[in-house]
Amino acid sequence: MTRNWRLERRRDHYYWRAKREGYRSRAAYKLLEIHRKYRLFRPGLKVLDLGCSPGGWLQVAGSMVGSKGKVLGIDVKPLKPFKAGNISFLQHDVRSPELPGFVLKELGGKADLILSDVSPNISGVWEVDHARQMELAEASYKTALETLKPGGRLLVKVFEGDLVDGFRKTLKKHFEKVKTVKPKASRSRSSEIYLLAEGFKVAVNPPRTSGDTRAREDSGGTP
Ligand SMILES: C[S@@+](CC[C@H](N)C(=O)[O-])C[C@H]1O[C@@H](n2cnc3c(N)ncnc32)[C@H](O)[C@@H]1O
Repeated sequence: MTRNWRLERRRDHYYWRAKREGYRSRAAYKLLEIHRKYRLFRPGLKVLDLGCSPGGWLQVAGSMVGSKGKVLGIDVKPLKPFKAGNISFLQHDVRSPELPGFVLKELGGKADLILSDVSPNISGVWEVDHARQMELAEASYKTALETLKPGGRLLVKVFEGDLVDGFRKTLKKHFEKVKTVKPKASRSRSSEIYLLAEGFKVAVNPPRTSGDTRAREDSGGTP
């Protein structure tokens, strides 16, 4: 944490609002904003949240899907547990080929909606950060190919740059529509945008764990 970063945070309206309103991160307001525009949630949905720590998006999703819904968070970092019975968590890397098997088991089937706010540690070197972010976005998309219901939606963060167009084209092969979203709650100097891919068409050739059912069955719920 640099001095500038701490100063910026002190001036940040959403940071203080999150503290006041009990959200674990200011990121919660980005998701609330996107939901207001695109109606992401309804009671009863199964939601997968990739890169979920410290848990602001989990709080939003958990309250929107209610007790009949289910939200599963994934992160390489640990997560302070929630009391809400509809939120669960697996500490796992989004790039792991075993992840889809664990997700299907923990959610009890495929997700209606997949959220990915996964971000690498920022190095400050733009090309490096862009490439790392795109690798994580690709990993989220590959997870979606195996764990999203037909017709489902994927909301995925990317950093603007040369690789985004290619990624958008890849998404278009598997989804009916891909929209670009820039919430006001994103920091103004941030190059992050979100791609909202809607109307998932069934994956013909899932890229990773297809045929690996034995590994999935043997793996247990917790990595
Ligand atoms: C911007 S934060 C997410 C904030 C979250 N949406 C919230 O509302 O609190 C990005 C998260 O991505 C996670 N992350 C980074 N690389 C990852 C990976 N390879 N697999 C899973 N999670 C990862 C980080 O640990 C971090 O918690």
